[in-house]
Amino acid sequence: MNSGLEDVVAAETVLSDVDGNAGRLIIRGISLDDLVAHSRYEDVLALLLDGFFPAMPSLPEALGAARVAVFKHLASVDAGLLALSPIEAIRALMARLPDGDDLATALQLVAAPAVFTPGIIRLRAGLAPIEPSATAGHAADVLAMMLGKPPTLQQTAALDRYLVTVADHGLNASTFAARVVASTQAGLASAVLAGLSALKGPLHGGAPGPVLDMLDAAGTPANAALWIDDALARDERLMGFGHRVYRVRDPRADALKGAVELLAASGAIDPARLALAEAVESAALAALRRKKPDRRLDTNVEFYTALLLESLGFPRETFTCVFAMGRTGGWVAHAREQVLGGRLIRPMSKYVGPRPQQAA
Ligand code: ACO
Repeated sequence: MNSGLEDVVAAETVLSDVDGNAGRLIIRGISLDDLVAHSRYEDVLALLLDGFFPAMPSLPEALGAARVAVFKHLASVDAGLLALSPIEAIRALMARLPDGDDLATALQLVAAPAVFTPGIIRLRAGLAPIEPSATAGHAADVLAMMLGKPPTLQQTAALDRYLVTVADHGLNASTFAARVVASTQAGLASAVLAGLSALKGPLHGGAPGPVLDMLDAAGTPANAALWIDDALARDERLMGFGHRVYRVRDPRADALKGAVELLAASGAIDPARLALAEAVESAALAALRRKKPDRRLDTNVEFYTALLLESLGFPRETFTCVFAMGRTGGWVAHAREQVLGGRLIRPMSKYVGPRPQQAA
């Protein structure tokens, strides 16, 4: 038995391939490097959904219309919902979306975290949510809804690069959860909610907020090694490091570090913040190599995510919601793939509890 299901192949997919030894990610035949260099999120969404619905309209317009359609749900936010963490609030709002298997349902599920996250951020700050634009680019619209003014081209490009980078990633925990639910034919909203719930955990999509807590606790580059050693001595896991599949550096970490360096060059990131992150990263890598010489633990996607989303103005407690903005594209595509070609997913467990006593 393999309790973490490592090395178990549980689905065939045309959507993405994670090569953990080569450190390579392919989305529908295109390498991540090429995708981030040339694509907006809408392009990658079109790539992921291609062939899974009977007819595909122009995605930017259809996604814009979906953003407008889901905005009305923010009117139902009350004090109880605002008292929840942002990811719980978004989960509660997304639970109001109806199940279905059509493209309109899929696009509303993709639009939901993109509209609800800026709305929740503003409502928590005592401000009214800003209506989406049906014609803006997806990333630009998210930033405009949060900032209350048009974003710069650099900000839009950085968010687009982030959303493209996290759009899909093989059979990760949240995508597997989404496929399990989809395999029961429960519908796309149910599958996406399962994915969102799995993403929330700190071992998966909940890591980037704690990455910033780690940078704050380390404080200065000079203190980084000491803080890391203390954390490992307390048996803590270093957020933003290690991966179930990658045995080398996560290629998404480089894609995002590139975006962070571009933001730093444009003055959007304090060079001192970047220097602190780099010092913490090298101290962590050195300490993890000493502690686990036989297990390569390298930087994962979440480390530079933290710096990138912080510089765009997202509060750290909403980072997982921004991850969900990108990953919903992968979840709906996998859910459709599962429904169209897969079977009910129903593994076995090994019973290790007591058995009824044999009758004398
Ligand atoms: N810091 C310290 N030690 C670590 C770390 C880490 N980040 N990652 C793994 N280890 C240690 C484990 O404690 C374990 O030690 P042990 O053998 O003494 O028990 C050993 O390395 C092997 O780790 P596993 O638990 O087998 O690794 P697994 O594949 O199960 O976990 C995971 C992968 C969950 C990502 C892990 O590396 C981790 O907890 N990282 C920190 C959280 C994080 O960054 N999550 C985001 C991942 S990316 C994503 O999901 C989008």
